[in-house]
Amino acid sequence: MFKSTIIRQVSRASTTAPRVSSTAFITRQTVRGLRTTPARFDKSSEEDDNDRHDALTTAGKPGAFEHEGQFSRTDKTIRIEHPEESQMPSSLPVQGRGGSHYRRTLATFSLEGRVGVVTGGARGLGLVMAQALVVSGADVAIVDLNKEEATKSAELLVETFRKENPDAEHVPTVTAHYADVSSPDSVNESISEIIGKHGKIDHLVTSAGFTDNIDAIDYPYERLKKLWGVNVDGTYLFSTAVARHLMDRGVPGSIVMIGSMSGSIVNVPQPQAPYNASKAAVRHLASSFAVEWAHAGIRVNCISPGYMLTALTKKILDENPVLAEKWTSLIPQGKMGRPEDLMGAVTFLLSDASGYVTGADLRVDGGYTLT
Ligand SMILES: NC(=O)c1ccc[n+]([C@@H]2O[C@H](COP(=O)([O-])OP(=O)(O)OC[C@H]3O[C@@H](n4cnc5c(N)ncnc54)[C@H](O)[C@@H]3O)[C@@H](O)[C@H]2O)c1
Repeated sequence: MFKSTIIRQVSRASTTAPRVSSTAFITRQTVRGLRTTPARFDKSSEEDDNDRHDALTTAGKPGAFEHEGQFSRTDKTIRIEHPEESQMPSSLPVQGRGGSHYRRTLATFSLEGRVGVVTGGARGLGLVMAQALVVSGADVAIVDLNKEEATKSAELLVETFRKENPDAEHVPTVTAHYADVSSPDSVNESISEIIGKHGKIDHLVTSAGFTDNIDAIDYPYERLKKLWGVNVDGTYLFSTAVARHLMDRGVPGSIVMIGSMSGSIVNVPQPQAPYNASKAAVRHLASSFAVEWAHAGIRVNCISPGYMLTALTKKILDENPVLAEKWTSLIPQGKMGRPEDLMGAVTFLLSDASGYVTGADLRVDGGYTLT
């Protein structure tokens, strides 16, 4: 290290010195010769006293100020476990905002005649994205661990569509199917069931996923395996099964994976390392599949939502009110998103409107990841 410092300084002195005209500088170079210690030790103690800002740098002692890292650190005292199924709040389709088909838009946004599968579609973001598919003309298969909730949501989607489109000639078919997306057998069974009911699959949205907010040191290993099993293996298994089906039929199709802004940044203050890593994996799976399946006309993209207000996030905020202020203070738009803010994004990426878009990560986060 000592040797390489000298070599660097010799080379810097020989290349920079002749170009400098200030005599003061040349004299200093001449007198000091080669430096072998870091620059900060060259300062006089008087200079050190005067330079108060040094304490703000790596030259300062850690913990010198209370505010250090205040807005950029996780807090291990925050612990929010994903609720048991019996504790999960239900959610409803978006009422009155889906819109009937009377406003003109690009025909390429239509999903008329297509069949789309939405994993985790019984509630939350998956349910509202399933509604976007229905409103765009597709028949939909909702897949979920909770078949009862999925059945209720499928019925509600059709009911809402009928209410909003009383004169519709075609009312979409929406079916509900059980699957544990982390199990290859369960995934294959549900794919066969869906093809049995709908005859084909053209599109997939993978929304099944969950998070726990637990400090990494204390994260139970069994939960870690379960989280990666659902978020990563589940996305992998469903996507490959649908791609295999499309390739067997020899037709194009498109897949949208629901990642998260947490796949690109580290959220604060709640700790969630395994979730963040799982969503980084989802984002890169989308890119990798996009390349592998481009030859077959299968496009694969990722949507990375920021903080969205679902029934589940409402419950978390009710129990941890301080988080609402911390989260919104870090979002340039200053607001959390609503599930319907994903309706346009998912329709665009599934439809022919995005025919030349593959492997993209569309962040729907109010600008969170920009700062
Ligand atoms: N809500 C947010 O703020 C937010 C932000 C970024 C990303 N996301 C991601 O969006 C997706 C949906 O989140 P959400 O907030 O709607 O969650 P949610 O809990 O409301 O819905 C998730 C659904 O997935 C189902 N599911 C869970 N494990 C499953 C399994 N093994 N097999 C099949 N289905 C299973 C659940 O039963 C549930 O219906 C998740 O991947 C999540 O990580 C959410």
